[in-house]
Amino acid sequence: MSSNRTPFIVGISGASGTAYAAAVINALLDAGESVDLVVSKSARLTILDELGLSWRDGHWREDLAVLLDRDTANADVVTWSAGDFAAGPSSGSYPAKGMVVVPASTASVAGIAMGLSKDLLQRAADVTLKERRPLVVCVRETPFTRSTMEHMLTLDISGAVVLPCNPAFYHGPTHVQQLVDFVAGKVLDAIGIDNDLFTRWQGELGAARKAATGP
Ligand SMILES: Cc1cc2nc3c(=O)[nH]c(=O)nc-3n(C[C@H](O)[C@H](O)[C@H](O)COP(=O)(O)O)c2cc1C
Repeated sequence: MSSNRTPFIVGISGASGTAYAAAVINALLDAGESVDLVVSKSARLTILDELGLSWRDGHWREDLAVLLDRDTANADVVTWSAGDFAAGPSSGSYPAKGMVVVPASTASVAGIAMGLSKDLLQRAADVTLKERRPLVVCVRETPFTRSTMEHMLTLDISGAVVLPCNPAFYHGPTHVQQLVDFVAGKVLDAIGIDNDLFTRWQGELGAARKAATGP
């Protein structure tokens, strides 16, 4: 691992959709990017609920292998505890290309919009905004309350990309992973990373579906 690495920070908060986080991290690693990972306290519950995986700070590399379904022995990933305000991503002087919060709970959306910094995930997002680096917030909730919509508007005004976990169907998905990868691909588009995670709109009705699934 290079000493001058400049990672993307990935924050996993306690919203449903652990698979979205896994797809984004896998795609970043596949693209040769470094990842700094922050798992919120509540995300441990969603990870446990959705994967049956107890996230352990002391064994995070093994747990990451389960989360990502890949060998992580040499993966360029660093994790930071959600309660560690002395962690690198807590400071604007720590090098980072940007941050993705995926999935983002409405609580995290609120905390980031209001600058609460109640844990390292929210602090790192606040730092990303203040340093004018790309911040993508992948909110996962439905329906939305008025306050969540106001918080999303605040994030947009502050320069973040509000990118709901909200897949399209024009590429004719037949597997859940294709829906997950659609969202992950949009996240990578938002931070300027080339990817072919989903079949793009071709400018003609049905063409993307045919390209993805055949005639
Ligand atoms: C299994 C489970 C699923 C949840 N799913 C969502 C969700 O989809 N969206 C959401 O906003 N909150 C969801 N929550 C509630 C959040 O975890 C809760 O608001 C928490 O305070 C979020 O904290 P965090 O943003 O610090 O991770 C869920 C909680 C659990 C236990």
